[in-house]
Amino acid sequence: NERTYIMVKPDGVDRGLVGDIISRFEKRGYKLVALKLKLASEELLREHYADLAGKPFFNGLVAFIGSGPVACMVWEGKDVVKTGRRMLGETDPLKSLPGSIRGDYAIDLGRNVCHGSDSVESANKEIKLWFNEDELVNWNASLYKSIYE
Ligand code: GTP
Ligand code: MG
Repeated sequence: NERTYIMVKPDGVDRGLVGDIISRFEKRGYKLVALKLKLASEELLREHYADLAGKPFFNGLVAFIGSGPVACMVWEGKDVVKTGRRMLGETDPLKSLPGSIRGDYAIDLGRNVCHGSDSVESANKEIKLWFNEDELVNWNASLYKSIYE
């Protein structure tokens, strides 16, 4: 079953948005398989954002995401990578529709509240990077018959 890595960034944690973001994925019908709060090291963040190394905003991005706790989670379900990105909105919050997380809660590019994997390949890489195997919980949600036909 498809999984994605969703992370509330330090701005979102500071603003008390963790519960709301978890709630959106829960209510949509996705299954939570891992969850923790973490202060990420610079090394971990450089690896997480390796695709962006060389961009002018890279050092600032790594410094900001390491400046406070992040809430790390893995969600599972049908098409969760693409749907998770749509639930987040666009990278630029001002281009994000109301109803999306960034469209409801954010204004600036560098304070866009939440991360979501951009492909199944990225999701697999990020889940391995942020979680140990024994932190991923395999379980059966009893509501599945009400969510999937
Ligand atoms: P994530 O879900 O956080 O990975 O965002 P994204 O996939 O929508 O965007 P991307 O991976 O390209 O960039 C990662 C993060 O870097 C973004 O969420 C922004 O916070 C930041 N970022 C991206 N582009 C810019 C930029 O042009 N300027 C600044 N200041 N920050 C940027
Ligand atoms: Mg990205």
